[in-house]
Amino acid sequence: MAEAPEKNLALDIVRITEAAALASARWLGRGNKEAGDGAAVDAMRIGFASLHIDGTVVIGEGEKDHAPMLYNGEKLGRGDGPALDVAVDPVEGTNLLAYGRPNAISVVAVAPGGSMFSPGPSYYMQKLVVSAPARDVVDLDAPVRDNLNNISRALGKDIRDLVVFVLDKPRHKRLIEEIREAGARIQLQTDGDVAGALMAVDPRSEVDVMMGTGGTPEGVITACAIKGLDGQILARLDPQSYVEKEAITEAGIDLREILTVNDLVKSDDCFFAATGISGGDFLHGVRYSGQRTITHSMVIRGKTGTIRYVESFHNMGKLSKFSAVQY
Ligand code: FBP
Repeated sequence: MAEAPEKNLALDIVRITEAAALASARWLGRGNKEAGDGAAVDAMRIGFASLHIDGTVVIGEGEKDHAPMLYNGEKLGRGDGPALDVAVDPVEGTNLLAYGRPNAISVVAVAPGGSMFSPGPSYYMQKLVVSAPARDVVDLDAPVRDNLNNISRALGKDIRDLVVFVLDKPRHKRLIEEIREAGARIQLQTDGDVAGALMAVDPRSEVDVMMGTGGTPEGVITACAIKGLDGQILARLDPQSYVEKEAITEAGIDLREILTVNDLVKSDDCFFAATGISGGDFLHGVRYSGQRTITHSMVIRGKTGTIRYVESFHNMGKLSKFSAVQY
């Protein structure tokens, strides 16, 4: 049945990621990750208060006791709109921001209530992210070389042309060796596998694949974007401590299960927005230019697959006269 265009919530949530980026960018390179994160959290909470949604934080910053963070189970919005699961990462890459490294971003995703995977006691998951042409040729249990060969064929590239994004962590020593042995190139970054996953599915980026273990919440939030871009994320919980493993097992969760993009976000009716905080090759960071401050964002609507890159010129003089957000 033909439908008239509906409201695109991504265009509302991008104002929230912009505000969080503007507030936290003041902390670039100042060595204080809590302050940068706190500024973004405050800005997000103020932004959500104006939205006509009945939102519940499913992917948040922790538990209720750790307020003033946006905690799991917290209600967001005015309560008079659709019931939505909300995933937030006010500063994804808190160390990247604190030490002035590229690719710190502010991220929000929303989807119909009950459609987002709840990480429960899981902190870490193994992930493999590829763009649309390679979505059906990857297998989390296959050798790294086989996956890279299949991806290179699907993308129409030589394996030597591939760039794999990997977090630079001791746990990835063998993975890095295997990628190198297969002949592919690597982009190693200290933090920020949401940006890594977004780059893997973004047609404009040099990154072709993201591999390795990172945060479980980050995997869920990323899935909303990957879904909109018809890419794939294959994931499996990958506890990094005995305590985490025990907690997952006690919760009755199968550690062997491979989750796909559709398991992490069940509905196509999801919305995603990310705004650059520190400058990177993916999204520009917040740029101060006299009276105007410029932000650069990526906005995705899952149902239609539309991607928008939004460059906004904020008039800080005017904003400072009335905005509740501290810029
Ligand atoms: P934070 O913004 O919470 O610091 O997360 C940064 C990050 O690099 C994520 O992108 C990644 O998923 C996770 O940390 C990896 O965790 P760890 O640094 O403990 O290996």
